[in-house]
Amino acid sequence: MKNILVTGGCGFIGSVFVRYILEESGFTGRIINLDKLTYAGNPENLLNFEELYKDRYIFVHEDICKKDALDKVFSNYNIDTVCHFAAESHVDRSIVSPEAFIETNINGTFNLLEASRKRLDKIKLFHHVSTDEVFGSLGAEGYFTETTPYSPNSPYSASKAGSDHLVRAYSETYGLPVTVSNCSNNYGPYQFPEKLIPLMIINAMEDKPLPIYGDGANIRDWLYVADHCRAIWQIMNNGEKGETYNVGGKCEKRNLEVVETICSLMDEAFPSKSGKSKKDLITFVKDRPGHDKRYAIDCTKIENSLGWHPVESFESGIKATIEWYLENQTWVDRIKSGEYLKWIDGHYNM
Ligand code: NAD
Ligand code: DAU
Repeated sequence: MKNILVTGGCGFIGSVFVRYILEESGFTGRIINLDKLTYAGNPENLLNFEELYKDRYIFVHEDICKKDALDKVFSNYNIDTVCHFAAESHVDRSIVSPEAFIETNINGTFNLLEASRKRLDKIKLFHHVSTDEVFGSLGAEGYFTETTPYSPNSPYSASKAGSDHLVRAYSETYGLPVTVSNCSNNYGPYQFPEKLIPLMIINAMEDKPLPIYGDGANIRDWLYVADHCRAIWQIMNNGEKGETYNVGGKCEKRNLEVVETICSLMDEAFPSKSGKSKKDLITFVKDRPGHDKRYAIDCTKIENSLGWHPVESFESGIKATIEWYLENQTWVDRIKSGEYLKWIDGHYNM
């Protein structure tokens, strides 16, 4: 791998991945970060990277829905590897406005696969970053394995399922060397505050209501984002072509438990002026339509075959995450004001 095209590298997981690759992984080649900079893409997540890593980090402001532009990027930068993060990623948005999810997650992935097929002799790997939501919802027992049948319930998960199938088909039909990872809920620094954990931290900072959908008994399997990025890199280097790998935190928690933990930690780190506990801000609201009850990953395959394990505990990870949001008030303010959206082609447009 010499020239890795990372799509969606200005988003939450993509930016942590790019930082990990350039700073910690030992990779000596080039990262070409292609991102459309939607509301979720924030170039400030990789502030100064073009100067810091002059010949090794290139930002391309592009859209994976534009076929011709993709062909140019593949040939201009001699792409030999793809790590595909770019997606519309938020379930609630997919319920309100599904179209962008179909466009980016299905058609955009198709365009990337086509661009790769045109250079089949040069592509060493196409890694597709996907989600455990493709498997649908679990009852009280059992785990998602790599052979669990797909049963997506939201427009988001259906669009990701569609993209997974396309990736598999390009492997089987055209011999494109692919790997796929299906991961559980990530949390950590740089996550856009529409997702549960950062939304609760930021609302708690401002003593705003903490909205819990339904009764708060839905269960998610939480994984610290750095652990996910290590898993992806491990799969890219040592995974078997054509295989999929489930990645999870072995950390099932009810939503209410997650929010109560955040409240307790915030009571210590950022107490309310009123002296009241942040728990008083918890507000039960109307449930999400089609709300999946429980996700839980069996990650035996990646543990046994690649030696990857989640290392961050929820206790230390959530503490570090809260500290990061408290210490990065400028990042938070600029996200809330939309200021970061003025970045175009690596420059701040006044
Ligand atoms: P995110 O919403 O934070 O970031 C998405 C990035 O993709 C943004 O930078 C955005 O600008 C970019 N993007 C969107 N549409 C694009 C387009 N048409 N062309 C180019 N770039 C585009 O998402 P995230 O939470 O970092 O998730 C990254 C990937 O990981 C997604 O594929 C998601 O399905 C998957 N995933 C996420 C989680 C999670 O918990 N967040 C868990 C498992 C898998
Ligand atoms: O499982 C992996 C998936 O995790 C990823 O593929 C998605 O990209 C990512 O968004 C995430 O999906 P969820 O829907 O599980 O994440 P979210 O943070 O939106 O919600 C987590 C849980 O918290 C879910 O049960 C809904 C609930 N929730 C969420 C929000 C935003 C609330 O109760 N209140 C809220 O305000």
